[in-house]
Amino acid sequence: MSGDRKAPEHAPQTAFETRNNELLVGGVSVSELAQRAGDRAFYAYDGAIMTRNVERLRDKLPSRISLHYAMKANPMPAVVNHLAGLTNGLDVASAAELRVALATGINPRDISFAGPGKSTEDLETAVEAGVIIVLESPTEAERVTALARQQGRKVPVALRVNPDFLLKASGMKMGGGSQPFGTDAEEIPEFLATLDSDALDILGFHIFWGSQNLRPEGIMEAHGKTLELAARLAPSLPGPLRWLNIGGGLGVPYFPGETPLDVAPIMAALAETLDQYGDLLADTEVVMELGRYLVAEAGLYLCRVTDRKVSRGTTYLVTNGGLHHYLSVTGNFGQVIRKNYPVCIANRVESDDLEPVTVVGPLCTPLDLIAQNMTLPTAGIGDLIAVYMSGAYGYTASPHHFLSHPEPLEFFL
Ligand SMILES: Cc1ncc(COP(=O)(O)O)c(C=O)c1O
Repeated sequence: MSGDRKAPEHAPQTAFETRNNELLVGGVSVSELAQRAGDRAFYAYDGAIMTRNVERLRDKLPSRISLHYAMKANPMPAVVNHLAGLTNGLDVASAAELRVALATGINPRDISFAGPGKSTEDLETAVEAGVIIVLESPTEAERVTALARQQGRKVPVALRVNPDFLLKASGMKMGGGSQPFGTDAEEIPEFLATLDSDALDILGFHIFWGSQNLRPEGIMEAHGKTLELAARLAPSLPGPLRWLNIGGGLGVPYFPGETPLDVAPIMAALAETLDQYGDLLADTEVVMELGRYLVAEAGLYLCRVTDRKVSRGTTYLVTNGGLHHYLSVTGNFGQVIRKNYPVCIANRVESDDLEPVTVVGPLCTPLDLIAQNMTLPTAGIGDLIAVYMSGAYGYTASPHHFLSHPEPLEFFL
């Protein structure tokens, strides 16, 4: 047993520049942004970082892949507009997201709408707009068919497939076994046989196997199995396979010990796999849909220290931000064991004067924890706490109304 093993650390945060030891977002200092925000905590997203990250990915991504942005990660209209200009399409999950996507002016055929339990408004808006509806069940297929007949349209659709493979090395598993998403792979041929191809333009499949994966070998395995499954199912389609969404799943490092994904071997292997299935994919648009990988690193969450106190040896920095603004930083958005996100004192990034602190919000619950026992530059009332990796699943994935404090603001720079 080694007694001097070092505790795992966060991956270095290099995306945001500093000036006078203060973080900058799009060239604007966080103090200036905090002034604009008044008493409110806020998210700040840096468009140039998003651009750079998409360009880096594009450099390795097989050129025939259409890159889609999964808006659920961050549906702020300014972010979506920016990403619409950098990607080949958008993936939406509600009528409201669809309206934001349509407002970017992209071709509706480059928008896909996936998600279980679509409402009547969801389906009507989608059919009217002419976007690709990803059918999650036979019932949904019946409802879309009825709308298509009513409106005299042929509606472009794809079938969401719940894969018959389960990945060993996956972060958040969303396929394989029993799932509320899509139709089990083994049921697909029978499902396809029931569909009315006068009402539905059946383009292909959406095979989503998981999310937040930091293991290249797991992602490569998923790509291989996804293509193999698509090849097995394609003969049951009424025509050639014209659209295949192979999911996304590329993860980002949030926690100590995690490192950024090396996409080069993943994309090289994917290019080979796509070549191997060249005949199957001759007429196919192959889509990869990514959310957090495109936006997480480009966002900061900022809150201000409003109190400082010591309880039985622990120093607490109390802030005007917390769980109600940012559920996942507190460890309550699907994490099994709570771990700290990377955090800094945004207006004093580097300092020799360090101390261990616990950063909390104003809610009367022990769940309202932004950082636990982290060593940070010594901070007091008025200083700004920044949480890195906050561009995805932050603002809209949080219970803003809990305890009725002011909501956070969002800035896109
Ligand atoms: C269908 C679908 N697409 C895309 C995503 C985005 O995942 P991520 O943000 O990890 O890329 C999800 C996440 O749950 C999803 O369910």
